[in-house]
Amino acid sequence: MIIDGKQIAQELRQTIANEVALLERKPGLAVILIGDDPASAVYVRNKGIACKEAGFYSEKINKPASITQAALLSEIERLNNDDKIDGILVQLPLPQHLDANLVIEAINPAKDVDGFHSENIGKLMQNNPFLRPCTPKGVMTMLKTTGVDLAGKHCVVVGASNIVGRPMAMELLNARATVTICNSKTQDLSGKLKQADIVVAAVGIANMIQGDWIKSGAIVIDVGINKLDNGHLVGDVDFESAQKVADWITPVPGGVGPMTIATLLENTLTAYKARKEK
Ligand code: GUN
Repeated sequence: MIIDGKQIAQELRQTIANEVALLERKPGLAVILIGDDPASAVYVRNKGIACKEAGFYSEKINKPASITQAALLSEIERLNNDDKIDGILVQLPLPQHLDANLVIEAINPAKDVDGFHSENIGKLMQNNPFLRPCTPKGVMTMLKTTGVDLAGKHCVVVGASNIVGRPMAMELLNARATVTICNSKTQDLSGKLKQADIVVAAVGIANMIQGDWIKSGAIVIDVGINKLDNGHLVGDVDFESAQKVADWITPVPGGVGPMTIATLLENTLTAYKARKEK
């Protein structure tokens, strides 16, 4: 069966919009885009559209790739102190001369809707989460729709990035799964995958994971978005062969991608409520 991320995301966005319509102030999201990477520009535009549809206030801040670290940090400080803004997101990756870690740490953790600040990552690791990274959290929302209890299941996460793999592993551990984290040096990857009840692929290599690496009845979550030479988008999993073996699988496109944006709205609403209570 297909886990329809587009549909799940649409429902989540509608639920959020209904809630936002009743608020006295619009939740505000600021998205900072540095430079003119076309893929990043598309993501940022989609985030802006999603904000409008959900009734959020949104600000898009586009700065040239030549911006200095100091100027970027002062832009973040301005947004930290702007009461209309509940969430601040700096689109990654950043140009080489900027230090992404310093930039992330400059965001007020209460407004860190990406959940990348060390304080929010630390809380996730302590199983006391506040703002949680959007893509892994969106995957957890998708897994919930299958009705499968994750406790005691063996989950294999392929990829160990700060944005997806590492926080994904923590989310699954917090759900009391047994978690294996693989990286590009992992030996016998296919053997490890063959033991997985749940596979989360986040490596960025088109069609790398083959159907015969997947255990019969597994749940396969494909976080990869890879552009082929012919312009087609495919995941990290070879969908054709894997769908024959898996019980549940996410398509690309229309799987995890839409969930990331819906979860960003969810996080912005969480940040709004937490700030209001203060
Ligand atoms: N680049 C790719 N994914 C993400 C994400 O979730 N957040 C940000 N800020 N940048 C990204």
